[in-house]
Amino acid sequence: MPTVTVRPSGKTVDMPAGTTLAAAITATGEPMVLKCEGKGECESCHVFVQEGRKSLSKIQRQENERLDSIVGVGSKSRLACQAHLGEEDVVVELLGFASGL
Ligand code: FES
Repeated sequence: MPTVTVRPSGKTVDMPAGTTLAAAITATGEPMVLKCEGKGECESCHVFVQEGRKSLSKIQRQENERLDSIVGVGSKSRLACQAHLGEEDVVVELLGFASGL
């Protein structure tokens, strides 16, 4: 079961593969605002994935289009509600603490 670590707090949680990143982050106790309720239609769940990016589910068209419209997006950007865990551990950085580059 992959471990999700949230920076900068360092909180961790073990969640089964297939869980969304948003659910995993919430499970650590970190606040995660889901303005569109996880439909991939806003940008409130934008996070930077620092480690384990390749094990996450692939970016689908809707997420890609949404990311394109976000200021400050980087190569590590994902919408946490759209990214599903794979088998590997993941480290995410919440916005406001990293450049994402
Ligand atoms: S909660 Fe709106 S895009 Fe993820």
